[in-house]
Amino acid sequence: MEHTPVLLPQVLAALNVRASGVYLDATYGRGGHAGAIVEKLVADGRLLCLDRDPVAVAEARARFAADSRVSVFLAPFSALAACADHVAPGLKFDGILFDLGVSSPQLDDPSRGFSFMQDGPLDMRMSKGVGPTAADIVNGASEAELIRIFREFGEERFAPRIARAIVADRASKPFERTLELAEMISRVARTRERHKHPATRVFQALRIHVNGELDELEAALNAAFERLVPQGRLAVISFHSLEDRMVKQFMRRHASTDPVYAGLPFVPAHAAPKLRLVGKAIQADSEETARNPRARSARLRVAERLNEGIAA
Ligand SMILES: C[S@@+](CC[C@H](N)C(=O)[O-])C[C@H]1O[C@@H](n2cnc3c(N)ncnc32)[C@H](O)[C@@H]1O
Repeated sequence: MEHTPVLLPQVLAALNVRASGVYLDATYGRGGHAGAIVEKLVADGRLLCLDRDPVAVAEARARFAADSRVSVFLAPFSALAACADHVAPGLKFDGILFDLGVSSPQLDDPSRGFSFMQDGPLDMRMSKGVGPTAADIVNGASEAELIRIFREFGEERFAPRIARAIVADRASKPFERTLELAEMISRVARTRERHKHPATRVFQALRIHVNGELDELEAALNAAFERLVPQGRLAVISFHSLEDRMVKQFMRRHASTDPVYAGLPFVPAHAAPKLRLVGKAIQADSEETARNPRARSARLRVAERLNEGIAA
């Protein structure tokens, strides 16, 4: 299945795309946003595309093979500075986009193991084939560790009950398939959340843990911030509250004066705000969510890099 880019016009407006500008799409996916950015560039504009999924990167390389404006990297977005340096040492961007989470082709391919609706191996690695799988965690982590993962990354209130059941069941047979786990969770933890499968939160938690998603995001936001030119724009789309909270706090922190200097008549440059918040969080309208249900939980936050030492 194709991936329909969410909030596309809003993202293009947020990035303020200039024809000769330099842009980074840190989450290429199937290039819905990247394609629309490239269309706005002239010959000396540039777009760098990153994805940690080799399937996404193969698609990007095939699509842009003949386009010298576009460079594609198979890399986690925490490594964005190294990718930028590879193109030109110290390269900075007029706009950086993160569209977090998994793409529709990843979700819809049962062999990737992201979905609790289709049977597949319990895998969930975005960097296909690299590192421990969700099955390794489910079958190998202690009960206490499973509770922590489900609570911290899934905000799952039945975490102890689910972890206990996993530990009891895996003693006779390890979990290997997505549906084995999803069906077991449905038996032990009935959700009261409307329209939500009882396994939603555990699957989210395992995916975040397997891919180190929150550590990745923290490192990448810091790296992105360092690589924006003055007036450069940072646009981040998140799909769950843990990510959105991290993005909101990051932007707010850099959009305020260091609290040590609050209220003082002179604020040194290093303590002055470095970002300006551009509007409030943007959500998809009803027309878009009807067309693309994935857009329902999307939140776009935008900030602009300020000149060094200039107050917001
Ligand atoms: C929601 S999709 C992006 C969709 C894309 N904007 C489009 O329009 O097609 C997210 C993509 O980001 C990638 N991704 C997620 N976390 C990543 C990370 N830490 N580093 C690099 N890529 C990541 C996933 O592999 C996936 O392909």
